Formats: sequence, structure tokens, C-alpha cells
Amino acid sequence: SEERLRAVRDRVRSFPDFPVPGVLFRDISPLLKDPVAFKALIDLLEDHLRASFPRIDVIAGLDSRGFLIGPSLAQRLGVGFVLIRKKGKLPGPTESISYALEYGKGCTEDALSTLQAELEIQSDAVEAGQKVVVVDDLLATGGTMRAACELLVRLKADILECLVVIELKALGGAAKLEAIPFHSLLQYD
Ligand code: PRP
Ligand code: HPA
Repeated sequence: SEERLRAVRDRVRSFPDFPVPGVLFRDISPLLKDPVAFKALIDLLEDHLRASFPRIDVIAGLDSRGFLIGPSLAQRLGVGFVLIRKKGKLPGPTESISYALEYGKGCTEDALSTLQAELEIQSDAVEAGQKVVVVDDLLATGGTMRAACELLVRLKADILECLVVIELKALGGAAKLEAIPFHSLLQYD
């Protein structure tokens, strides 16, 4: 397990000052490119979820990099995968929510320049009471994950956990999720 974690960590690259000055961007492209490391990632996530929850009904993934991880993990667990998308991409009845983009999205430190974004889920994506794990590549401020959870709450899902590969600890995103359980494989300051 330590070996698998190292295989994953070794395939995360860091780029200073991307997409804006002052942000150290963690890039998972090498992890996706290396089939041994990517398998190690899915193994670790599967083991964690099997050890934590006796029953999972659905994996929900966040647009767009949650889509790279969620379906592989869902297949391993023998459950379905549902999309939580940026607004305007999903047909039929939906729920949507607006949230603030606070970090690393081309906005500066200046509070006045904080951008808004919107997430959306199809109303029939999950049924009331279904047990859902929400997956993404990375937690920064936690704003995206919190908004996704709000959508799932509106559909009356039972959120078991928010699960990410990378947690940017210094931004305190896990606290923003309040009582919702959270787990990360790798932590960076
Ligand atoms: C990134 C990342 C998370 C989110 C984390 O996605 O993949 O989804 O930001 O930031 P937060 O915790 O501060 O909300 P991004 O919005 O850049 O979209 P993308 O995956 O489509 O590039
Ligand atoms: N990497 C990828 N996505 C991100 C980051 C990062 O460092 N910060 C905010 N979103």
C-alpha cells in the first residue's frame, strides 16, 4: 500500500504560477499516462471504499477531472457512475447551483475579481436514499465539492463520503464540507 501510494505520488507534477502567478498547480496528467500508476490509484481508492462502507450504490464524479477517475472506480465496485457537470451540458430536468471560484481559476487574490460558476445534475441521476460517494481529482478551497454535495442533498441522496486524490491542505477545503465525511489519498501544504 505504501508502495502503491508512492507510485501515485511520483506521477503528480507541480507547475509554479499556473494558471495565475502564486498558484502551484498539481497536474495528474503523468498519473493518467502511466497504466501502472493509474491502476495503483484505482486499487487504493477501491480498497479504501471497501474497507469503509459495506454498501455503496453510486459514484458521482465532478466535471471534468472527476470523470477520469470515477467510472474506473465504479466498475471495480460494480456500481453506476453519475455526472455532476458545469452548467448547460446536461439535457432534461436538472438541479443547478451557483458557487464561487476562489482559487487558481484565473481569478486574482482581489476579492472583487472572484468568479462565479455553476454545477448541475440530472434530477433522475440518483434516487432518494441512495448511498453516494463523490469523487474528484483535487480539493482546493472545497467550493466545488460543497456545491456538488448540495445538489446531491437536494436529490435526497445519502452522501457517504467525498473522496479526492489530492488535498491542498493549506486552503482548508475539508472544513468547508463541515459534517460531510472527507478522505484524500495525498496531501500537499
Ligand atoms: C478543479 C479541480 C476541482 C476544483 C477544486 O477543477 O479539478 O474540481 O477545481 O477547486 P475548489 O476546491 O477550490 O473548488 P476546475 O474547476 O479547474 O475544472 P476542470 O476539472 O474542468 O478543469
Ligand atoms: N491542480 C489542479 N486543479 C486545481 C488546482 C491544482 O493545483 N488548484 C485548483 N484547482
